[in-house]
Order: sequence, then structure tokens, then C-alpha cells
Amino acid sequence: MGLKKQIKDYLKTHLSPKRYEHSIAVAKLSKKLAKKHGLPAKKAFLAGLLHDAAKELSEKELIKIATQDGLALDSDEKQRPTLLHGRAAAVLAQKNWGINDEMILQGIRDHIFGRPGMEPFSMVIYCADLLEPHRQFIKESLRQKVLSYDLEKMTLWVAEFIFRDLKKKGRRIVQSSLKMYKELKERMNRDV
Ligand SMILES: [Fe+2]
Ligand SMILES: [Fe+2]
Repeated sequence: MGLKKQIKDYLKTHLSPKRYEHSIAVAKLSKKLAKKHGLPAKKAFLAGLLHDAAKELSEKELIKIATQDGLALDSDEKQRPTLLHGRAAAVLAQKNWGINDEMILQGIRDHIFGRPGMEPFSMVIYCADLLEPHRQFIKESLRQKVLSYDLEKMTLWVAEFIFRDLKKKGRRIVQSSLKMYKELKERMNRDV
């Protein structure tokens, strides 16, 4: 059985149908964006497919699996273990399917918060997660417009969208997201 089929079978049994469809859609959009921006498309498909593989694990399981990457939990992760689902999915990718490609693993880890200095490959996964076509809170015309931006501008737009949403929900923006945002904004202003 091929790798993609193995992963899909796992996702089918570990995720709700809605999140399964989301995962497939993120994989497809990641591949398309990667191709457009000269990045490895097959790797982008895999990272997109796997990004939420750990999303429906219990908090206890999330902590157990995520910390197998050898890093400690920060205060945000301690308070809300669901934020560990990127780290945990990267561990699963290695353990279950022998994926050791750091670009793929980092793309999976980065999809929730982004990261200051984030590489274009991770930007693809981060943006595809929000911009896949099932996300009906974004009008189709706007979605297409944002998808036509270059990766930095697209990432900035996605971060702003996520920040507004967090604000509405009364949640805190984590430091690394904020730092990434400021960094991109500065770079953008310099280029104008
Ligand atoms: Fe996620
Ligand atoms: Fe997602």
C-alpha cells in the first residue's frame, strides 16, 4: 500500500469526516501553492495531509506524543494542550510513516502559529490551512484574491485574519505568531 493511502486510511479512522475532508483539501491546496511558488509539491501534499493528524487526540495523548520531540511545554501549551496538535502530528509522521524530511515536519509543526523566520514551505501549509475551499467564512472572490498574493503577503493576510478571530473569541495571540507578523510587516514596508 502506498504511503498516501496508508495516511488517508489512518486519517479516516482517527478524524471526523469533516476534518478528514479538510485535511485532503489542505493537502491539495498546499500542493497547488507549492507548485506555483517553485517548492516541492509532493512534500507539500504530505505535510498538508498530515497537519491535523493529531487534532482529535485526548489532551493526555497530545502531551505524551508531542513531547517525544524532546522539547518542553511552554506556558500556552500547558494551558491549552490542543495547541500541541502540530508538534504531535510531526511526531506521528516520523513514528508511523517514517517521514524524516525536516521540511515536511517543520511545515506540520508551523501550521498553527507560524514562526518568526518561517520558510516559504511552511508558509504554504499555514496559508492552505485557512484558505482551503471548505472554509466558508471567506468569500470565494476574496479567497481567490488572497491566493494570488505572493507567499509573504498571503501569510500576513492569514495571520491578520487569525488574529481578528482570536480577538473575537477573547483568546491571546502567542508571542511567536506576533513576532512573525511584525517581521513580515517590516519586510513588506521596506520593499515598498
Ligand atoms: Fe490544525
Ligand atoms: Fe487544519
